[in-house]
Amino acid sequence: MPRRPSRSACFQPDNYRTPELFADRDALTEHLTETLRCFLEPGAPGEARILVRGQRGIGKSMVSRRAIDRVVTELGPLFVEVDAARTGHGPEPFLRQLARALAQEALRNSTDPTLCARAELILELASQSKVQHKTARTLTKSAALNLKLDDKLTDFLGVELSVGLGASRAVTVEESTEHQIDVPFLQGLIQAFLVDALALGQMTILFIDNLDQVGYAEIEEDVRRVTDLARYLLSMDGCLVVANLRTEFVSTDLRKLQSYAVEVLGMSPAELMQVYEARVEARGRDARAKLEEAGMPQLAATLSEWTDNAWGFLCWLAYLDLQPLPDELSPAALLALMRRYAETQYTGVTWEELTWLSGVYKSAPSKLWRTEDELRRGGLSEELIKRACKYGALVPDWLLSPDRYMLAPGLMFLIRG
Ligand SMILES: Nc1ncnc2c1ncn2[C@@H]1O[C@H](COP(=O)(O)OP(=O)(O)OP(=O)(O)O)[C@@H](O)[C@H]1O
Ligand SMILES: [Mg+2]
Repeated sequence: MPRRPSRSACFQPDNYRTPELFADRDALTEHLTETLRCFLEPGAPGEARILVRGQRGIGKSMVSRRAIDRVVTELGPLFVEVDAARTGHGPEPFLRQLARALAQEALRNSTDPTLCARAELILELASQSKVQHKTARTLTKSAALNLKLDDKLTDFLGVELSVGLGASRAVTVEESTEHQIDVPFLQGLIQAFLVDALALGQMTILFIDNLDQVGYAEIEEDVRRVTDLARYLLSMDGCLVVANLRTEFVSTDLRKLQSYAVEVLGMSPAELMQVYEARVEARGRDARAKLEEAGMPQLAATLSEWTDNAWGFLCWLAYLDLQPLPDELSPAALLALMRRYAETQYTGVTWEELTWLSGVYKSAPSKLWRTEDELRRGGLSEELIKRACKYGALVPDWLLSPDRYMLAPGLMFLIRG
């Protein structure tokens, strides 16, 4: 007799913003918190570029958010978070959102009239796709902007809009000329604001979450755009940038740009069980009872031994939460359930093909990566390797020119189970 599904709905991996769902990864959280603090405490430089990288779903966003939250509460810099998964496709909407969020944060939390006037200007410019020269002149006339010759913003407005103290007298511009508020413009504007703000004593932390999701991993042009944007963000001055990027988007030159990289590694079974517990606890007593009745705690304990990836672990649980589970969950019965999960998630690759794929990794389960040669020697065709990447069953080390591949976190049960 199958048991009723637990249907607790508490494992959806994308519902993660509530702080009480955070299961503390002591050493890593502490390390990142201390690192951020040393750049932001009084007398510190107030600028650095921190790249948080790691596999999909390994916990980059959670740990970054927790560490940043602590430092912001303690030291009170301006704090701007932009989740690239939510700003729309491409760099332009992302930069508009970043400019707007930065300006709004300054208006909310800065008492400096110069910074507030500049934030108003940014808000105005970032909400338009182009601005007439006449309007630009009016907008930048305000004495409250407090433009000085050695300001970055003065320089920027002079060069880009031919207005203010930085404008060259030799250049006359028609009132009706339109200036484009495009990607390079927005990049320069944000940068100028931040450098001047730091010179005025205002520190800022920019948290760029899920940067890789500005574009689609399957489209080469998009991957290049993500890399360009990452290059811009990891060259920024005047602030502390914390950017999260999946490993497969980290090109060699990005490795050189950042001031410091934090590699987020997998979680132990005990840590994964803390993630499980936090989810169940947040959902309440009824959900806990249903989960126990369905045998989910034992199941979670088994699954936590098969992966170190929190996202993969939660995806499995979210799926099993909706299935009737057999009374006796033998290894074969569990594998049959997981097979159905894999078939719904990795469409485009058959179960048989997934079994071949995982066979190559099974021979040395602690070795995460395989070269194309190794995959070919395991009997995989070039076509299957390509298709497996397209459908997410294989993950390359770098999207633009892969040397090595790993099995998707959601398929780890095939080698460890
Ligand atoms: N320390 C943690 N405590 C509780 N849940 C966690 C923790 N770390 C990760 N998770 C859970 O695992 C899932 C993936 O975590 P997160 O989004 O932080 O990973 P990521 O590395 O940012 O993934 P992506 O590459 O998709 O952006 C989330 O749903 C989150 O709930
Ligand atoms: Mg993330």
